[in-house]
Amino acid sequence: MNTGASNVVTPPESIDLSLMDPIFAKYGGNRGALIPILQNAQELYNYLPKEVLQLIARQLGLSVSKVYGVATFYAQFYLERRGRHILKLCDGTACHVKGTPVLMTALEDRYHIGPGETTPDGELTVEIVYCLGSCALAPVAVLNGEVVGRLRQEMLLRTVKKQIDSA
Ligand code: FES
Repeated sequence: MNTGASNVVTPPESIDLSLMDPIFAKYGGNRGALIPILQNAQELYNYLPKEVLQLIARQLGLSVSKVYGVATFYAQFYLERRGRHILKLCDGTACHVKGTPVLMTALEDRYHIGPGETTPDGELTVEIVYCLGSCALAPVAVLNGEVVGRLRQEMLLRTVKKQIDSA
C-alpha cells in the first residue's frame, strides 16, 4: 500500500560486534576497565552504538543503565553516529571575532549540516568547540586531529573536501 510518505528511511547501520572480541580478550571481565573498554570501542566504531554498550554490560556483568551512565557522564564519549571525518570548528571569542560564523555558514551551504550534525553519507561531522588554545591562529579548526589556522571559507572547504576525497 502506498502510504504517500515521501521520506526515505535509511536502514539501520549494522554493527559488527565481533570487533569487540580482542578488547574483551585484553580486559576480560574486569569491571574496573569499563572506561578503557569504552575508549577502545569508540576508537573502533567512532562512537558508542547502543548494541555495543549492551554487549559491554553483558560481558562485565553490569546493568545497561550503569554502562550508559558512565558513557553519558564523560564528554569524550559519543552516543550518536559520527562521520569518518571530524571537523572541530572553534567558536571561542578570538575565533568568533575573526570569522567562525562565516565559516560555519559556508559549511552549512556546502554540506547541509549544522553544528553537531553528520552528513547523511556518514563522511563528515562538524562540532563546535570553544578555544583550542591557538588563538593567535584564529579562526582555527581541527580536522581529523590536525590543527588548521587562519582559515578562510574557500580554504576550509578545500581542506575538508581534500580529506574526504583522500580517504
Ligand atoms: S578562541 Fe579559538 S583557538 Fe582560542
